[in-house]
Amino acid sequence: MIPLDHDIRPLRADQVEQAQRLAQGVWKDVLQKETGIKLDYPLKPEMVLRTYMSMDPGGSLAAWSGDRMVGAIYAHAWGKVGWVGPMEVDPSWQRQGIGRSLLQAAEGYLADEGCESIGLEAMAERRGSVSFYESRRYRPVGDAPFFDKRLDDTQIIAPSVSPLEENDIPAWSKSISDLCRSICPGLDLSREVQGVMAIGKALVAISDSGSLNGLAVLHTEGSRDLGGHQLRLMLVDPASRNRNEVGAALLSSCEALSHNAGAGRLFFTTTIDDTLVDLLVMRKYRILGTNVRLVKGNGETRWWDGNIISWTG
Ligand SMILES: CC(C)(COP(=O)(O)OP(=O)(O)OC[C@H]1O[C@@H](n2cnc3c(N)ncnc32)[C@H](O)[C@@H]1OP(=O)(O)O)[C@@H](O)C(=O)NCCC(=O)NCCS
Repeated sequence: MIPLDHDIRPLRADQVEQAQRLAQGVWKDVLQKETGIKLDYPLKPEMVLRTYMSMDPGGSLAAWSGDRMVGAIYAHAWGKVGWVGPMEVDPSWQRQGIGRSLLQAAEGYLADEGCESIGLEAMAERRGSVSFYESRRYRPVGDAPFFDKRLDDTQIIAPSVSPLEENDIPAWSKSISDLCRSICPGLDLSREVQGVMAIGKALVAISDSGSLNGLAVLHTEGSRDLGGHQLRLMLVDPASRNRNEVGAALLSSCEALSHNAGAGRLFFTTTIDDTLVDLLVMRKYRILGTNVRLVKGNGETRWWDGNIISWTG
């Protein structure tokens, strides 16, 4: 039930700055409560929010009390798979049902888009936010550590990997859809690949026979404030004979691209399985914190194993 003194509406282009300020205040408060440190949190890049809004106009939602924005949520429809994140409620308005109303509205949007399951992440050490999602019937399905690597060494983009330009996308779009479906029936990340052209880079891994066997999506916008680039997606064709090498080529190429662009670090969250552990240890990633991944709805719960889906913050 939506309390009478606030309402929820799709975010408008002229409200992006308020959404940036809201997020900054919420995460500053989280940091202070968790560590005692008072620090101005970096502003979420404006273009990232605008890109979320253009990909999912009905899924980028704000809660209002009069003309004050008191909460926001960003939902992402990836075919039959929905994802939510981030979500923020103004500290002085928390525990008043706003988070519940925002999540309900985002779930409504994702259901209308045909999503049958929803994934998201919450910070493990914040039991409150994990409890919040559990109270909305999300099930924890594993830890998703926050991985980070300082990019000190010069590296090269692997010969099997190419950065995509916007005009390359039509030629690859069917292969990208097939790759997504081979990882999870109904998964379609083509909007994210299109959207990243405004805020980052997509890279494709190509087999000897010329077919697509992997894909990475890197958000580079706001790199100076964030201190680096965020790897959002790394998908590897489960049928490819050399899965490990494809993952290694994609990850090292992302590091090379980021390093060459002047980014000091590459970071992401991911659940881990044997394949990824070996790769992340080999490439010298360190763990800076841990999220919990939660899922609601039908379908396989850990379809992403061996891949990176990093939609936090
Ligand atoms: C997590 C968050 C979005 C919840 O929003 P909210 O408006 O405070 O949540 P609601 O008032 O709708 O809470 C609904 C239910 O969730 C649970 N819940 C919410 N906050 C909780 C807390 N701190 N501890 C335990 N349970 C909590 C409770 O069951 C609550 O119902 P109740 O108040 O009747 O007990 C908000 O606290 C927030 O913005 N936190 C900081 C950012 C963050 O962690 N975002 C989520 C990850 S991206």
